[in-house]
Amino acid sequence: MAEKKEVVETSEAQIAVHWGEEAYYEPSAEFIAQANMTDSGIYERFSLDNFPNCFKEYADLLDWYEYWDTILDTSDAPCWKWFVGGKVNASYNCVDRHLAKHKNKTAIHFVPELEEEKTEHVTFQELYVRVNEMAALLQDFCGLKAGDRVTLHLPMTPDLPVTMLACARLGVIHSQVFGGFSGKSCADRIVDSGSNVLITADSYYRGGKLIDHKEKADTAVAEAKKAGQTVDKVLVWQRYPGKNSTPTPMVEGLDYFTNDVLKNYYGKIVEPVRMPAEAPLFLMYTSGTTGKPKGCQHGTGGYLAYVTGTSKFVQDIHPEDVYWCMADIGWITGHSYIVYGPLALAASTVIYEGIPTYPDAGRCWRIAQDLDVNIFHTAPTAIRALRKVGPDEPAKYNYKFKHMTTVGEPIEPEVWKWYYNVVGRGEAAIVDTWWQTETGGFLCSTIPALKAMKPGSAGPGMPGIHPVIYDDEGKELPAGAGKAGNICIRNPWPGGFQTIWGDRDRFVSTYYERYCRDKNSKNWEDWPYLTGDAAVEAEDGYFRILGRIDDVINVSGHRLGTKELESAALVVQEVAEAAVVPVKHDIKGIEPDLYVALKPGIEGSDEIAAKISKAIVDEIGAIARPRKVWIVPDMPKTRSGKIMRRVLGAISNKGDVGDTMTLANPEVVEEITKMVQN
Ligand code: PRX
Repeated sequence: MAEKKEVVETSEAQIAVHWGEEAYYEPSAEFIAQANMTDSGIYERFSLDNFPNCFKEYADLLDWYEYWDTILDTSDAPCWKWFVGGKVNASYNCVDRHLAKHKNKTAIHFVPELEEEKTEHVTFQELYVRVNEMAALLQDFCGLKAGDRVTLHLPMTPDLPVTMLACARLGVIHSQVFGGFSGKSCADRIVDSGSNVLITADSYYRGGKLIDHKEKADTAVAEAKKAGQTVDKVLVWQRYPGKNSTPTPMVEGLDYFTNDVLKNYYGKIVEPVRMPAEAPLFLMYTSGTTGKPKGCQHGTGGYLAYVTGTSKFVQDIHPEDVYWCMADIGWITGHSYIVYGPLALAASTVIYEGIPTYPDAGRCWRIAQDLDVNIFHTAPTAIRALRKVGPDEPAKYNYKFKHMTTVGEPIEPEVWKWYYNVVGRGEAAIVDTWWQTETGGFLCSTIPALKAMKPGSAGPGMPGIHPVIYDDEGKELPAGAGKAGNICIRNPWPGGFQTIWGDRDRFVSTYYERYCRDKNSKNWEDWPYLTGDAAVEAEDGYFRILGRIDDVINVSGHRLGTKELESAALVVQEVAEAAVVPVKHDIKGIEPDLYVALKPGIEGSDEIAAKISKAIVDEIGAIARPRKVWIVPDMPKTRSGKIMRRVLGAISNKGDVGDTMTLANPEVVEEITKMVQN
């Protein structure tokens, strides 16, 4: 009974809410008057006829050591290479080049979670000094050089972008693991990327508590070792330099306090390494359809050009703006739109350590008021939570947003309208940006001064991004068809990931095989990119994203593989089978429900359920904790033994289970329904 069973899916798209089309909202004249992009000719310039040369406009936002000669090299299709022949450094573009004009301007405002702690304002000059010293340390003390991978498991403090930019300065490929992930998850990523160095922190604040983070490093190192990957050095940034804030002891000869070692490198300057445009800049692991996370490999020149261009035109960032994206830098949103994009444009970017509602529902709006934030960027989950705990809070504070972003999940029109009217006071332009870890930057969004907003719709394809919706047979569903299908992108773009680290076959099969016209083709037109989302395209060319069509679920805007959760549950020895289904949730959007069947002779109990839940938190992290662990007598199965996840999904969402008479065991459906719906 414990052998692996095939599973029949229920997807997010199947349980998606199908809200109707909404009316347009126009951006204000005040916004348009100051916007970076007001030329509607941009859509024509970035039409398919002008592809790929249109992307020169993005490349020219960067400083190049050597200008590129080939804009797009398709010879290794579908591993596209952008700006080939060019030499560039990301750290230089985000830091050094701003010194002439903006040396004394704030690059990073760091807001500690405890309100009694002072906000730290890091100028570009100070950032330059810290990045150089850290680069010197990585080079000399750790022996790292271009092409090496290093795993970061850092919380939200300036030490994280400093470390990333120090890596980028050397051409070292950073792989930051979301701080909330477990030591075990961190280990998997250390092993997959082949990192010898782990950079972590002793502690950080969350919900008013100082969390011991160092203990996760010990687990990560031990687990990585078991899997054959030795970590030689662990660098530990201290939350309070010089003071130990963790009960977990340092390991002699392995662990070093970063801030202590840095003393040996004070004042050191490291020349940025002139990297080929297509050299990898970082890995960002994300969940897929199998248990093993995929290391999305992003390049240097293409990625940086794309996030800089989209930060300028969609986020409308000017150097004088104070920009706050509330995401965690441990996700792609933070990489692209807290660190690389905003800093490449010399903006002041805000890093907030803690949770948005700590210590009360007004915290975000106080931060906005105190720092003069004028561009605000967050996810529907946070908007729903802020609306729930403090629907009238924003009015109590004196801030003024010109622009707001939503990202990561579909946003309900009702929630959108609260964001617009109450948070943005009907003055701020909103962009709903749809994209993915893989895509590096936005795929669909309005350009805020050029296109009207429509609640619940991400908007049209970005300039130079040409989406298409295919049905299961590969037929195009035109705008206004009123039918959902699989949204794909017809063409490559500079921000797209280059491959899955160490697994080109998986890259091709997951993203390009489905609608590929000719596997031997070197013509990009034969290789539409499969996003894995379901979408509908309205008459006006705006896309509404419905959710995932694969085994990925989006919990609070965080991507989790159902297979990852299931394998974590199977670590508990009493468990014979496990199935995860997405459930609609008011705040989180989607939550995982976990069904398990135990091995013969084992009785279900609250203790076993708790043990399974804990196993998931230990293996993956607290964000993956299931809503409920349902211990069922048996899984509903087809006669060939497939678990009918669709039926479980319907039960969890109080939907229609459909015809169950063809199941091998229709009687369990009623039993499970009673258990879950009571
Ligand atoms: O399903 C889509 C959803 O989030 C997925 C990508 O998740 P991740 O790689 O973690 O990146 C999140 C930040 C870009 C997508 O496949 N998604 C993302 N943005 C939106 C969205 N769904 C609806 N509307 C969005 N704006």
